Amino acid sequence: MNKKQLHIGLIYGSARQGRFCDTIAQWVLAHIVKDSTFSVDTLDPKQLNLPYDLPPSDDEATMAFKSRLAACDAFIVVTPEYNHGYPAPLKVLIDAAKKEWQRKPVAFVSYGGISGGLRAVEQLRQVFAELHSVSMRDSVSFANPWELFDSSGNLKQAEPLSNNLDFMLEHLKWWGQALRRARHEVPAAP
Ligand SMILES: Cc1cc2nc3c(=O)[nH]c(=O)nc-3n(C[C@H](O)[C@H](O)[C@H](O)COP(=O)(O)O)c2cc1C
Repeated sequence: MNKKQLHIGLIYGSARQGRFCDTIAQWVLAHIVKDSTFSVDTLDPKQLNLPYDLPPSDDEATMAFKSRLAACDAFIVVTPEYNHGYPAPLKVLIDAAKKEWQRKPVAFVSYGGISGGLRAVEQLRQVFAELHSVSMRDSVSFANPWELFDSSGNLKQAEPLSNNLDFMLEHLKWWGQALRRARHEVPAAP
């Protein structure tokens, strides 16, 4: 990461064994790294070992997680839909921090059955509003994505989803740069 790059936290929503999240998140990651104005940190609940007992939590895993979040200028949450909501490990991850989310943009890539995970995304917008984050209007949504990828993790038919992701990233970049500048130049409201 250099100071001019926009540092994105790419967040995995699923911690399930055999999860499809890996395929979708790797596809997102491949897009992000094509743009040298971005740097990226992958935040995976499977590897973070965050405790369920909240807060206060000053254990090593939580402190390390918070410092990684604090370094991020923007976030992309890759989430499936579980019972018309988002997965519990994602809520644990979100609730493990507070000010580290604030005044930063959040974008969503979702997947699921016919709804494409959009019900999970709508719930997440409410959660992130409480954390003073700004959610991006445009998201990327995969309905029934299981047959859409080849064995290398590439979309068999790139469009329109690749275009949708690029469009979303452009908005995330604008908000990420604008809010980073504002965080440095404008005093925070009480
Ligand atoms: C507990 C559970 C509940 C689910 N509920 C929904 C649902 O309400 N809507 C939907 O579209 N898909 C639902 N699914 C299907 C998931 O979206 C699909 O299995 C997806 O691949 C899960 O993501 P993951 O493999 O990364 O964990 C559910 C899956 C699980 C395991």
